[in-house]
This record gives sequence, structure tokens and C-alpha cells, in this order.
Amino acid sequence: MKLVNDAQIAKAIILSPDFKTYSMAERYRELSRRAGIDFSAVIKFLEWLPVFIDGEDHQRIRKVMGKQISRTKEDQNAAIQKSLDNLFYRCFRPAAEIDLVADFAQPLWRSISASVAPRDERTLELVDEIPALFSPILSIRERAKINEKIEAFLRSNSGAEDEDESLILLCLASLGARPFVGSLGLSLYEVFRSNPNLPMHELSWPGTFPSSSLTFVDRMCQATAGYSGLTVEKGERVRCITQSPSYSIDENRRALFGFGAHTCLGKSVSERAWSLVVDKLSKSDLRAECVSIEMSLHDDPFKMPVTIEIRLH
Ligand code: HEM
Repeated sequence: MKLVNDAQIAKAIILSPDFKTYSMAERYRELSRRAGIDFSAVIKFLEWLPVFIDGEDHQRIRKVMGKQISRTKEDQNAAIQKSLDNLFYRCFRPAAEIDLVADFAQPLWRSISASVAPRDERTLELVDEIPALFSPILSIRERAKINEKIEAFLRSNSGAEDEDESLILLCLASLGARPFVGSLGLSLYEVFRSNPNLPMHELSWPGTFPSSSLTFVDRMCQATAGYSGLTVEKGERVRCITQSPSYSIDENRRALFGFGAHTCLGKSVSERAWSLVVDKLSKSDLRAECVSIEMSLHDDPFKMPVTIEIRLH
């Protein structure tokens, strides 16, 4: 696999018709053959996830997701506002200790995701577990367990009038969970850590997430291509770094939600949530002290915080 750590080349590759997405379903087919385990439910599900597919199916699924996002915009705004009022009232007081992941980003995400896609206990669990399937180091046993849960979902959904739509909405919510929770937690941590002595109303709040839990996207080369000194061979996998300390603030900001045909469908709701979070926190006299951060070791491709402890003064 080739690593591209140059903002311009990474963008050119992501936008190029000579590159396609990486097929996660294909990896599970290989694993199924090698391990002799049935991953057909996972494979079927992965073939509906827009980040891993191209062509007409991708466009069709993306269209349904896009419609759902715009149809539920009012509900999303109401959910964000209500959840923020609630969280702020409950957690933000002097001497309080808060885990920005479990006490803030996670509950905010849950209320947003409920407004975008209807859910029950089972889908809620699946939405949290499905992204683990993308990790290269998850045990086969855990993969098989998730396969069983997806199989049960597909079975119960089978034949329903809105069968395709329910599956697409599950895909949409699954793709939003980790980027949103991780990026919100890491971004707040970064703002607080770089301004340890200022109350929140004196901080200079960035216009969008200053940190992301999704720092690269993978692509497969369809025809040998050259980019100022870099040659990528047909069939080669390329990891395009989209967020890097070596990029300018502007380059990182522009690449935050990806480029082209696979640009993030959660961009608008995420950016609205960020502005409302900033709006709320920037009115507070409280000061946040960063106590600790613990990162997950097995959430690849996501850079996920497990806990981010802050203390308020
Ligand atoms: C700050 C939060 C988020 C960040 C940084 C982020 C980042 C990204 C990036 C970089 C991509 C492009 C992947 C690629 O090109 O392969 C992407 C795709 C996607 N995102 Fe997000 N995302 C965020 C939140 C969300 C949310 C909340 C949702 C759902 C409500 C969502 C749904 C999607 C979907 C469906 C795609 C696939 C689009 C496609 O392949 O056509 N994202 N996201």
C-alpha cells in the first residue's frame, strides 16, 4: 500500500476517475474463504455502504441518504438544541468532571442520529458496532458476532415495504457515529488544551472542527497514474492522508469531509452541530482544564478517543 502525505496529490487522487473505492466486501469474501466462516450478512451490508462502492449503486444509495438528511433538517436542529441545553444544564458547572466522549459527544450524537434515522435498541447497538468491521485487527470471533446481528436485522427487515430504505438508513447512521463522536471530542479537547487559562467566553473558537477522527481515505488504482514524481500502479491500494500536522490549517479544513463523489453526507449536520456547540460554550464563564485523554488502540481507520476527562472551574 502506498501512503500519500501531500494535500494536493491526495486530493487529485480522490477526485480522479482512475481511482475507485477500496472494496471491504471483497476482503470479507477472502476472509470467508480462508477461515471457512460465513460472512454473507456482513458482505451484503458492506455492498450497501457508499464509502466502499462506486457506480450506479453508489449514486442510488447516496441519493436516498441525501434526501433523508435534507428531509429531517428541522428535526436535527431541534434535537441538537434540546440535547445541548440538557447536557449543558446537567454537566457544565464549577468543579464538575466531565468525560467529553461519554458525557457529551456520544449523547449528542445519539440524539442527532435518532432525528436522522429511526432506531430501536437493536439498531442502536448495531450502529455502534458496525464500524468495528473496518478494523484490520478485530478478532474473527467478534466479526462473526457482528455478522450474526446483521443477519438478524436483515431477516427481520426482509420483505418489508421499506426494506431497502431501512438498510440504507442503518448504513447512514453507522457511517456517522465514529467520525462525529471522535471529531467532536478531539476538537473540544484541542481547543481547551491550547488555551488552558481562558474561560470559554474568551476562547477564539474555530469555525469548524479543528481535529478529526478520520485522517485518511483509501483508494484503488484502476490505471497506472503519475503525480509529480509519484507513480501508482494499476491494482495498487493508496492511502490518501486528508488530515495531517504537515498540512496548512486551510488544507486540513478543506479536506475534513472529503472530496468529489464520496464527499461526506453528514457535513451539513456536523457543521451545524459544531456551530451550536460553540454558540453554547462560548457564552460560558467556565474554564476547562484537560485532565487526561485515552485513545483507542483498535478503532482503525478511526482515531478514536475512549475517554477525554476535563475539569471545570
Ligand atoms: C465531523 C464529523 C465527520 C467527519 C470528519 C466526516 C468525514 C468524512 C469523510 C472524510 C468522508 C469521505 C470518505 C471517502 O472519501 O472515502 C465521509 C463520508 C461519509 N460520511 Fe462523514 N464525516 C463526519 C460525520 C458524518 C455524519 C454525522 C454522517 C451521517 C449522518 C456521515 C455520513 C457519511 C457518509 C454516508 C459518507 C459516505 C459518502 C459516500 O461515500 O458517498 N458523516 N465522511
